[in-house]
Amino acid sequence: MSARLFLIFILVAMICALCLPAMAAGDAAKGADLYAKKCKLCHGADGAGTPAMQKKYGAELKPLGGAAIQAKKDADLAKGVMGGKNHAALAKSLQPADVDNVVAHIRTLKK
Ligand code: HEC
Repeated sequence: MSARLFLIFILVAMICALCLPAMAAGDAAKGADLYAKKCKLCHGADGAGTPAMQKKYGAELKPLGGAAIQAKKDADLAKGVMGGKNHAALAKSLQPADVDNVVAHIRTLKK
């Protein structure tokens, strides 16, 4: 490989490495919309959980902005959203992009 080709190759690789995380991350604004429609009724606007849900689930319902949830990786949060036992009906109505977007929104709830 010529030196010039090699340089171009390195440049492209660097640009790709910079773009990938940006492409993978969801759209927090779209996520906020979805959250208001499908999550707020249980988790509350700020993620703390509605009083009724807090009463019903107690410590099992963790505040979405709290350390325990925020410490999770995006992929694990996505699994929590799709696989949660209280999310069965909900999960059927979510597309993969919806999940990425709503995870991005959950990041904005960080305290
Ligand atoms: C019917 C009520 C209800 C709705 C609607 C709901 N949740 Fe939940 N969610 C719960 C309850 C209860 C828990 C805690 C118990 C559990 O993990 O199943 C929970 C847990 C979670 C967790 C933590 C999972 C973990 O890994 O510990 C996340 C994240 C979450 N919900 C996100 C969402 C998002 C995002 C939506 C909307 C797309 C949503 N929830 C809609 C009731 C709900």
